[in-house]
Amino acid sequence: MFQMGLFLYIVAFVLLYILWQFKSLFFSSVRVLNPFHEDSRKTIREQVTDQKKRDEVLKNGFKPEKVPKDLDAIVIGSGIGGLSVAAILSKVGKKVLVLEQHDQAGGCCHTFIDKGYEFDVGIHYIGDMHTQSLSKTLLDQISDGQIEWEYLSEEFDTVLIKDKNKNEMKRFPIYANAERQKSHLKKLFPDEEAAIDKFYEKVVESSLAYQSAMMFKFLPLWLINIIDKLGFVSYFTNFFKLNEQTLKDVVDELTENQELRDVFSYCFGDYGTIPSKVGFPLQALLFHHFSEGASYPVGGASEIAHSIIPVIERGGGKVLVRAEVIKILADSNNVVNGVTVRHGKNETDVLAPLIISDAGVFNTFLKLLPPSISSQSRFKKFYQKERALTCLSLFVGLDASAEELEIPAKRNLWIFPKKDIDKPALLRISLGSSLSASAILLGAFSVLARIARGKTTMAIVTFTNYDWFEKWENKPCQRRGDDYEALKKTLGWKLIDQVIELYPKVKDHIDYVNVGSPLSNNFYIGSNRGEIYGLDHDKDRFSLHNFSELRPKTDVPGLFLTGQDVCSCGFVGALYGGLICAQQILGRNVMNDLIKLNKNIVIKEKKQ
Ligand SMILES: Cc1cc2nc3c(=O)[nH]c(=O)nc-3n(C[C@H](O)[C@H](O)[C@H](O)COP(=O)(O)OP(=O)(O)OC[C@H]3O[C@@H](n4cnc5c(N)ncnc54)[C@H](O)[C@@H]3O)c2cc1C
Ligand SMILES: *[C@@H]1O[C@H](CO)[C@@H](O)[C@H](O)[C@H]1NC(C)=O
Ligand SMILES: *[C@@H]1O[C@H](CO)[C@@H](O)[C@H](O)[C@H]1NC(C)=O
Repeated sequence: MFQMGLFLYIVAFVLLYILWQFKSLFFSSVRVLNPFHEDSRKTIREQVTDQKKRDEVLKNGFKPEKVPKDLDAIVIGSGIGGLSVAAILSKVGKKVLVLEQHDQAGGCCHTFIDKGYEFDVGIHYIGDMHTQSLSKTLLDQISDGQIEWEYLSEEFDTVLIKDKNKNEMKRFPIYANAERQKSHLKKLFPDEEAAIDKFYEKVVESSLAYQSAMMFKFLPLWLINIIDKLGFVSYFTNFFKLNEQTLKDVVDELTENQELRDVFSYCFGDYGTIPSKVGFPLQALLFHHFSEGASYPVGGASEIAHSIIPVIERGGGKVLVRAEVIKILADSNNVVNGVTVRHGKNETDVLAPLIISDAGVFNTFLKLLPPSISSQSRFKKFYQKERALTCLSLFVGLDASAEELEIPAKRNLWIFPKKDIDKPALLRISLGSSLSASAILLGAFSVLARIARGKTTMAIVTFTNYDWFEKWENKPCQRRGDDYEALKKTLGWKLIDQVIELYPKVKDHIDYVNVGSPLSNNFYIGSNRGEIYGLDHDKDRFSLHNFSELRPKTDVPGLFLTGQDVCSCGFVGALYGGLICAQQILGRNVMNDLIKLNKNIVIKEKKQ
């Protein structure tokens, strides 16, 4: 029996090896160019500050005559997931049209300017960008190397947990150096040395396991079934095993100290699934991602789209906004071959042999595909899922510098109104539509303070309830009525009051306040029920079969997915969504190409 098992294992392995190594031979008849054959970074240009000039790139409105002829692909949505796949395809000579429903490109990377302040809506901090990591090289290669990064504070996150008994805020700094972080935690929790070591061991183990799990997004699903039936999955990766425990399971097992448990779990707001629902490896990935600190794009998040769009357009492609895709078109064999675009009052059909959606699983399957196709798709179980958490975003403009305000700049604050951070969030969800005064205080929220020309902007984000806003769902943006505005104001000021409690000087410098509700998310980033990170990141999503099925190549011929629903949310998660989407479209191991280029760049820079 043992020998038989071993034999099958070897056969399976060989098969896998062949498929993996020679994928491009099996899946593509033409030789595909290497998009990363040379380092395409250019000397950094001076940043364009003239808003009109920036808008020419970011706000190019749709007109039928602007659509290039003989398109190779259409990308629905201009988030980083859409822009990255479009740019990689452009680098191998494909002509790609990116269509964005909003009036500017960038998705969660767009910014808005109002009354002299500029706010970013969905980028506060990104890991891996201050060294020449693989992610940095990927972004460099699709942006001509034009995006510069500002490193945040060494203490890039601060966790504040209210101690009800003593009526004080306990402060737990998070440092950009895992060793420093560990020794600091050991000082704060002297009896918990073993738990702290074990936690960080598991963080490293899980992030390595994630890398080896990636192959399951590429292997044929039938082969994955066989590997699973034979019980061989664990020979390839222990990711799925690790994913059987939730974050809460793990931290509860490690320690009885609730404060330490909370510090281990504090940043679940970055993927929006509470500790008792998320698999441990996702939190581990996030810890790993920020293990050397975080950065922010110089000039703001809009620099990202502003630097990538020229790469797409140089290849003959275009990025057009005010172009809502309302339908994905298919021929009589159910092969998708185009989209219907609504621009103003007009509608235009645009055709292309490949349709790539960055609009997420819900939009793509529930709104855009003909029901006769989507109802037959394996994605049904995903688009029927409950929506993930939604948020309230508060944008505050302060007419003083961070020093004057005595607030820590260049870092996030995570403020928890009480211990056991998993419970408040649950309570918040079960509150239903009853708006109690303390409800908003129960979620977690982060504050990012950024300095700009003697002024300071602050973005405050907290989870909220979609139900509270649902009744205005179908009312037009900016015209939802006084009661809607009143609700936003009430909630917004509850958040500001919390900030003032911590930083009293803020009170006299509030110059601008704008509240983004879950309905704003629907309007500006095209979510369905205000969800901010696409599909829920619960542990079910990362189980073997679900993880494998959530891949760019769909079961609808001609249709691919990119962005945060493919791997995970987060800027870098969605960026890689674009890379593996390009990989599956081209049938070439572009990940390998990228790794090789990255190695060369690192070696070259060491020599200099
Ligand atoms: C409040 C907030 C804070 C965040 N903070 C961080 C952070 O600090 N660090 C980090 O790494 N990540 C952060 N994220 C997450 C990160 O921004 C996202 O996970 C990532 O940018 C998603 O990229 P995407 O391309 O998948 O989707 P998106 O950026 O959402 O892009 C999808 C695009 O598709 C468009 N679209 C949808 N439907 C249509 C249609 N029918 N026709 C045309 N266009 C359509 C949308 O308008 C949108 O522009 C944050 C997110 C939010 C919401
Ligand atoms: C809609 O079509 C009409 C007639 O072709 C044209 O004049 C108008 O500019 C179009 N509007 C938009 C927003 O494209
Ligand atoms: C896969 O996802 C579906 C839809 O969310 C869920 O019902 C199912 O339980 C998941 N499977 C596993 C093994 O977690």
